[in-house]
Amino acid sequence: MPSDIDPTISSTLYGKDLAQCIENFPPFNNTPVTYTQPPNPGWKFGQRVEETEEGKKWVQGEKEGWRRIDVDKESTTAIYQLMLSGIQPRPIAFVSSVSESGVENVAPFSFFNAVTADPPLISYCANTFGGSRFKDSAENATKEFTVNIISVPWAEQANFASVDVPSDLSEWELAGLTKMKSTYVKAPRVKESAFSMECELYHAFEIVRPQTKQITGTVIYGLIKCIHVRNDVLMDAKALEESGHRAKIVADPGKLRTIARMGDISYGYVSEPFRLPRCSWKKDGEAVKDAVEGYRTEKGLPEKEHTEVPKL
Ligand SMILES: Cc1cc2nc3c(=O)[nH]c(=O)nc-3n(C[C@H](O)[C@H](O)[C@H](O)COP(=O)(O)O)c2cc1C
Repeated sequence: MPSDIDPTISSTLYGKDLAQCIENFPPFNNTPVTYTQPPNPGWKFGQRVEETEEGKKWVQGEKEGWRRIDVDKESTTAIYQLMLSGIQPRPIAFVSSVSESGVENVAPFSFFNAVTADPPLISYCANTFGGSRFKDSAENATKEFTVNIISVPWAEQANFASVDVPSDLSEWELAGLTKMKSTYVKAPRVKESAFSMECELYHAFEIVRPQTKQITGTVIYGLIKCIHVRNDVLMDAKALEESGHRAKIVADPGKLRTIARMGDISYGYVSEPFRLPRCSWKKDGEAVKDAVEGYRTEKGLPEKEHTEVPKL
């Protein structure tokens, strides 16, 4: 057990040496994914959070009061760390790109998400925070790149790829990852990824700090040309068809085992996803009809026909 973890820091997560703190934790739990019921399966329309034991405890946390953080009064680092820890879990794009001169690059980006499915778009942001060097993954991605989803078995390799390797060395080899030829783009995809997207640049948007007008990052929007998905992480097509569900090709989270970013050096792995059916006015509206009518009368709102929102 390490002896020199700063005793003034009460959290076991933080110490002078973050890597050393890890030694205190139990090993990674590789147990298979278990789907569970939602937190409050008996929830009824309008039921308030404090009406369950867990909800009551949650709401009582408010007794400690609130703290307002005005972003202009804090350093960029402080705000960055706060956003990293509060906006989570975040999916991670493992971006592979090739420079004009042929230098290959791979790096993880957690300021990443799907933008829309029509057209199929993703975005990620390469931050520089006003520093002079632009990230290779932003510069190289001017035309095309691949975005690879990271699974538990290659978390360490992906994490390593965020280092700024000297340009004469191969990040791929040092990280221990394998290149696979893409179909439509020059940048290779990652063989170890069970879900990779070949993308071409849709739009690059420079982020400017309003006060200083300095460029602090580039948001890259990628138009997905094709998705490569390993058959062994897909849900059984026959079972899907027999279920009558409209989904045709679906990755099974229990098999894909993606990792997420949770804070500074914290990663997450969802081993217990819960299932919570979506409500629809058509299906569930009847159950709240009386409540809705009462609400309309109380507020003096006119009767109104409900128009359904088209679903994809
Ligand atoms: C899990 C993880 C997520 C990251 N997310 C981002 C991000 O969203 N934006 C960013 O600019 N850097 C991010 N980084 C840091 C980059 O990966 C790192 O700066 C990398 O060296 C950039 O590579 P490049 O300069 O070769 O493009 C992240 C690092 C890790 C480990």
